[in-house]
Amino acid sequence: MSESDPIRSTPLPLEFPGVHHMDEQEVEAAARVLRAKSPFRYYGIDPQHEVESFEQEFAQFVGSSYAVAVGSGTAALATALAALGVGPGQEVIVPAYMWVSVAAAVVNQGAIPVLADIDDTFCLDPRDVGRRITPRTTGIIMVHMSGAPGDVAAIQQLARSRGLFLLEDCAQCAGASSHGRKAGTFGDIGTFSFQMNKNMTAGEGGCIVTSDHRLYQRAVACHDLGYARNAQGRLIFDQPDLCLWGKGCRMDELRAAVLRVQLRKLPSITSAMRSSKYRIREALQRFPEVTLRRIPDPSGDTGVFLITTWRDAATARAVNCRLRSEGIVTWPQGLTNIVMTEWGLHLYYNIASLVLHSSVDRSGFPWNLAENAGSRLEYAKGVCPVADSLFERSILLAIPSCLAAADEDDIITAFETALQSCL
Ligand SMILES: Cc1ncc(COP(=O)(O)O)c(C=O)c1O
Repeated sequence: MSESDPIRSTPLPLEFPGVHHMDEQEVEAAARVLRAKSPFRYYGIDPQHEVESFEQEFAQFVGSSYAVAVGSGTAALATALAALGVGPGQEVIVPAYMWVSVAAAVVNQGAIPVLADIDDTFCLDPRDVGRRITPRTTGIIMVHMSGAPGDVAAIQQLARSRGLFLLEDCAQCAGASSHGRKAGTFGDIGTFSFQMNKNMTAGEGGCIVTSDHRLYQRAVACHDLGYARNAQGRLIFDQPDLCLWGKGCRMDELRAAVLRVQLRKLPSITSAMRSSKYRIREALQRFPEVTLRRIPDPSGDTGVFLITTWRDAATARAVNCRLRSEGIVTWPQGLTNIVMTEWGLHLYYNIASLVLHSSVDRSGFPWNLAENAGSRLEYAKGVCPVADSLFERSILLAIPSCLAAADEDDIITAFETALQSCL
């Protein structure tokens, strides 16, 4: 190898954590449903009750009383907000670093999303949330971004003291915990995604968890046709408080069968990513020029992303460029190593529909509603200055769940080279 050769000549493995651990067990699980010719959860020729079993197993894993499996993380958010009774005249606090689905779920319910800034955990800053609460605020959506929970105990305390609901969006951190308690159980309700980029996957899928029986019943009704069902899967119409409106996002048996296998593998998937990530973090700790994301409880981190922050935007760009030229890249289907400003619809000011106050109808819903008059509707860059600065100074590196020690060595050497040449 000559001085000018890059550290790596083959791309790093693609991110997709659950996919790397798929094998014949998932194949057999899917085949079992197909052999029984019963892919629908509520009835069929020979129902396997995969969704029901998955819900029980997932609730138990997380430590919640109930789970409702749905078609996606976006559907989980929409169903959870419907179960919580969110609607016009309400403001719901959302973080500057999130995913477009979070804002969409609030807007689609007719409520107004209000941005709050993040801190060095890259999740909600409890002090800024306190500042954004108004008499119209009914709840907080805390999004545990990039694999690890933020200061969730502080947000939980704030929500309780101000009488607000707390929804934890755990789409990016299935299997995470904070000081011994699983993400998704700090608030009234938690949501998960099982889309392919997530810690466990069936390609698509989602789940809602709660320990509140009324919220559970409402979520069951809202995720389906608006009504509860009896043990035979037939709709019940004689419970007036459960005659609601449904979102039609039931999970099917095929995905549930696959997810039951993935759930059993989740601890080894996250432990592999955590071990790679903390080896790299330890190596970087020697360098005062790098700031590592603050993780309140590293033992509960799922390890799926490493975030490093640099003194200014130019340095972050230069370091990222050098890392990439040293071969710290992945295959074209993936997104492994980027300055965070490249992170699309995760950044509030990139969500054009939010900045433009877009509507799907012609009246301007929900921005035009009399109930929403007086709410702050500011979403352009500048509303969350801490996030703005962190995004342009930080690099996001995906940590695949199948990194070999030699891959970790390459990443560490590439950072060391970049530190020498860019600072
Ligand atoms: C934080 C967050 N919430 C919600 C979702 C939506 O999940 P899905 O893609 O399953 O609809 C995602 C997916 O990327 C996410 O990252």
